[in-house]
Amino acid sequence: MAELGELSEKLSLIRQEISEELTKLNSSKEVYEYRKTIMDSKTGKIGSLMREMGKVPKELKAEYGKQVNEIKTWATECFDELDTKMKEEELKARYESEKIDVTLPSNKIRRGYLHPATQVRNQIVDIFASLGFSIYEGNEIETDYYNFTALNIPKDHPARDMQDTFYLSPEFLLRTQTSSGQIHVMESQQPPIKIISPGKVFRSDDDATHSPMFSQMEGLVVDKGITLCDLQGMLDVFVKKIFGDDTKTRLRPSYFPFTEPSVEVDVSCFQCKGCGCKLCKGTGWIEVLGAGVVNKKVLEGCGIDSDVYSGLAFGIGIERIAMLKYGINNIKLLFESDLRVLDQIDD
Ligand code: DAH
Repeated sequence: MAELGELSEKLSLIRQEISEELTKLNSSKEVYEYRKTIMDSKTGKIGSLMREMGKVPKELKAEYGKQVNEIKTWATECFDELDTKMKEEELKARYESEKIDVTLPSNKIRRGYLHPATQVRNQIVDIFASLGFSIYEGNEIETDYYNFTALNIPKDHPARDMQDTFYLSPEFLLRTQTSSGQIHVMESQQPPIKIISPGKVFRSDDDATHSPMFSQMEGLVVDKGITLCDLQGMLDVFVKKIFGDDTKTRLRPSYFPFTEPSVEVDVSCFQCKGCGCKLCKGTGWIEVLGAGVVNKKVLEGCGIDSDVYSGLAFGIGIERIAMLKYGINNIKLLFESDLRVLDQIDD
């Protein structure tokens, strides 16, 4: 190894070179790469200096080591300092580029609504649930017995003609009314009974107000001392919640084989408030459902003592209520899934 003076000169050249190079670096990655080349113990300008110790005369070794260590410390500090500075800048740039303006209005998410018939069904379920009713889910495929015979509609009864039935076999059919659920409930439960039964029903019927498949909600209460007054009181609560507080109910005599007496329930027209309009066909009243006191024959057929218990029943057409409530004049609109219609109804 040459004189120490020569070493000093070499080291100051290295310092100068490193100092210059450092000014050209643009990222922490570049600092890392450059540091690796300089400090590499075999090939690095500083890292390899110690390898030359062997060539240094004994008496100069200490001084040589000291100077090499000094430049090593200096370089390490320079790299660390630049690395910290670069990393700070990079972080700042990242924050800047990833910055989001939380005050910007968000993209509008198009949201759908429940189908109007579902909305009405849910509302009716809520009303009767709040009156203490539980829900019975019936079967869409029924036997002739549950759909007709047990409801006091024997084989040759003219009431069968009121409902054009889809028969699956002489015994099985698609239920034409949720009333069939009444029989299942009364056969399996002793009074007090208080259920509603929503579901699909099927009839071979097709025009502006009828669809081959539609939904009904059956109601059944059986207990001691149940009368038509209980029915009227309960239905009053129901129609007020559905059509508005000033809606009145009116019972008109009617006929259903499974109720005696039977009634049709009208509500005062919620559009014209009873004055007469197109919706109520000038009468001031709109028919909304059928109901009555459960026929003793039906109770007895299910093993319920009709001298001890009496019952009331009602059947609501869900699509009909939806059509009245939302001013829909053709039932087909409820089955076509046209978003221009469905988008208007969020109740
Ligand atoms: N099941 C009848 C129909 O579909 C509706 C009905 C009327 C149900 C009177 C009842 C009732 O429970 O009491 O036309």
